[in-house]
Amino acid sequence: MNGSTSHDRRLSAKRVLLIVSGGIAAYKALELIRLLSKAGCGVTCVLTKAGAEFVTPLSLQALSGQKVYTDLFSLTDESEMGHIELSRAADLVVVAPASADILAKMTAGLASDLATTLLLATDKRVLVAPAMNLRMWQHAATQANLASLQARGVLIVQPDEGPMACGEFGPGRLAEPPVILAAIAQALGAGGPLAGSHAIVTSGPTHEPIDPVRYLGNRSSGKQGHAIALALATLGAKVTLVTGPVAIPDPLSVAAVHVETAAEMLAAVEAALPADIAVCAAAVADWRAEAQAPHKIKKTGKGPPALQLTENPDILRRLSAPGPLRPKLVVGFAAETQDLESNAAAKLAGKGCDWIVANNVGGTGIMGGADNQVTLITASGAEHWPLMDKQELARKLAVRIAEQFK
Ligand code: CTP
Repeated sequence: MNGSTSHDRRLSAKRVLLIVSGGIAAYKALELIRLLSKAGCGVTCVLTKAGAEFVTPLSLQALSGQKVYTDLFSLTDESEMGHIELSRAADLVVVAPASADILAKMTAGLASDLATTLLLATDKRVLVAPAMNLRMWQHAATQANLASLQARGVLIVQPDEGPMACGEFGPGRLAEPPVILAAIAQALGAGGPLAGSHAIVTSGPTHEPIDPVRYLGNRSSGKQGHAIALALATLGAKVTLVTGPVAIPDPLSVAAVHVETAAEMLAAVEAALPADIAVCAAAVADWRAEAQAPHKIKKTGKGPPALQLTENPDILRRLSAPGPLRPKLVVGFAAETQDLESNAAAKLAGKGCDWIVANNVGGTGIMGGADNQVTLITASGAEHWPLMDKQELARKLAVRIAEQFK
């Protein structure tokens, strides 16, 4: 596999901040620097104390042609370039190899040395390539740390499976440098398959106020919509994420607009047009209270108050309506609890969108859960996708969208 030529365009004139943490695989960072430099990408290295047990600052410096940073409290380093500046000057922060220790520190938000301080202070996307003993990799703590980092938008290059330095066999070996290089090129997105396109993604529930303390809402967590926004951005799209109130963070590298109600969501979506792609993953409340009470509704002793409801605007239908601003591809979701395919097909026709991602939300913990099982309905029929985690589903959908745009 030629590690550089196919990625040259995406990598040239970009800057990567490469953090090398401890582990026998640290030597592979040298090959990664060589590949990045060959592709025209500038590399600035930060070496952790543990990393310096395996490779020397001198070898990193010789290959990157740049000063190597190791110390949080070095006066010379601070006078040359503040540590915050170091992460801001990069287009992407890469941790390779990423030890179990640095992943745990990232998860906890520690800032105990230069590397972890940079990782906490950066406003750039972070990509990690883990490498560790297989038992450390399989440990529930490491897996939970990875899941939480991934939920925050950190990109993870899956380690390989194979014989390990410790004599065991299994997953945990650092991915090969050309594979990490490809992931870096993809994360930098400049030349990704969706480069130059704009995608609008709606996500989460909407909250429709009844009075200042009560609202109508639903159980949507926003996990699926947020993952789709991130997956489209990873393929190079410029993404506007319009999200209702959720407890999860905005994915990095998307422009997030926070709204409460369906009317606000529609206004934000319309303000974000024009777009090439729209994915409506939000669970928009179908109804709102006709009038919001200005004060908390009190018990009167004469039974519960009657709630007068009125219909909310249908954002998916508006986006799908023919006209100069209609995105080329409009994808809706169909949350169903019965007759999935026929209901979803009717929704596709009724709303005028191009694809429907239909999921059965009845009783299986899909809403709010980590996994999703969907049927994709397009003009050419229904495709049943197996149960997979929401991030994987998002990546699969983003790849399908990119294929459509080829
Ligand atoms: N949708 C929307 N605006 C609304 C209601 C729904 O944009 N006011 C979008 C959702 O984001 C989703 C699709 O329409 O992509 C279908 O949502 P769903 O709740 O499954 O269907 P509804 O249209 O609400 O129909 P019903 O509740 O009757 O199944």
